[in-house]
Amino acid sequence: MREAEIHDIEVQVFLEALRLRHGYDFTHYARASIKRRLEGLVKDMGHQNLSEIIPLLLREHDMLPKVLGSMSVPVTEMFRDPQIFKALREKVLPMLSTYPRVNIWQAGCATGEEVYSLAILLKEEGLYDKTSIYATDINDSAIARAEEGIVSQKCMEVYSRNYLAAGGKGALSDYYHARYNFVKLDETLKKNIVFAHHNVVADGVFCETHLLLCRNLLIYFSKDLQDQVLRLFYDSLVRGGFLCLGSRESIRFSSIADEFTPVDETLRIFRCCPRLEKR
Ligand SMILES: C[S@@+](CC[C@H](N)C(=O)[O-])C[C@H]1O[C@@H](n2cnc3c(N)ncnc32)[C@H](O)[C@@H]1O
Repeated sequence: MREAEIHDIEVQVFLEALRLRHGYDFTHYARASIKRRLEGLVKDMGHQNLSEIIPLLLREHDMLPKVLGSMSVPVTEMFRDPQIFKALREKVLPMLSTYPRVNIWQAGCATGEEVYSLAILLKEEGLYDKTSIYATDINDSAIARAEEGIVSQKCMEVYSRNYLAAGGKGALSDYYHARYNFVKLDETLKKNIVFAHHNVVADGVFCETHLLLCRNLLIYFSKDLQDQVLRLFYDSLVRGGFLCLGSRESIRFSSIADEFTPVDETLRIFRCCPRLEKR
């Protein structure tokens, strides 16, 4: 099949249609990445150009999940960047253990590998039973996969290495059952996890959060949109709460930068200490 041909003006009209018809605003996402995603959508649907699917977007109900699925990049892994999980284990969880109840929000959970990693960490550090974890994403099919807790067997070698590098106290295989070419993660890991649809661009504060992980999502946004979302995160965090971003993301440029102090700047872990309290 011929490569899908996409013009900038079509992308603009498509994004406006998506915003006006369905309330999803992707206009401030990095344009090059959006264009690549839309090329994939046009090709998958067997069309020649983006204009052909704009009427479908306006009229057909089943287009929205398809579009959201194609716009999202649910790439993830268990204990991705293990040194971050090690730092959470050593520097953040000991402080959270002093609270009677802990709320964690993982925004942009994709297919769930990161939130299950967090659950393992919490179990090993004895915090799991007093913790509620909210794992959210815009992509419903990714959330459905996350809820199943099924991971491809061929990833487990890398994930096991990551787990040990993150200071794992046993073996990753303690937390899953192997079945043919996939593994099923232990059901008890998701006992305190609530998976939900949430759009960080348009939806409100999620909960009174003690730890907020949002890694490798802000990189898809313009600086202004990053600022808007970081403000939502600030409003969601309790005073003294922790924010953990991806390795290519930062709060430094943003309007809430002064409200945080670094726990580990290189690992992008920050603590919410509002200006007034620092004086
Ligand atoms: C690259 S994945 C990151 C997964 C995981 N946090 C990690 O670092 O391994 C980015 C996720 O952000 C989600 N996403 C994109 N835009 C979003 C939005 N506006 N609100 C919530 N999630 C969003 C995508 O659906 C995708 O699952």
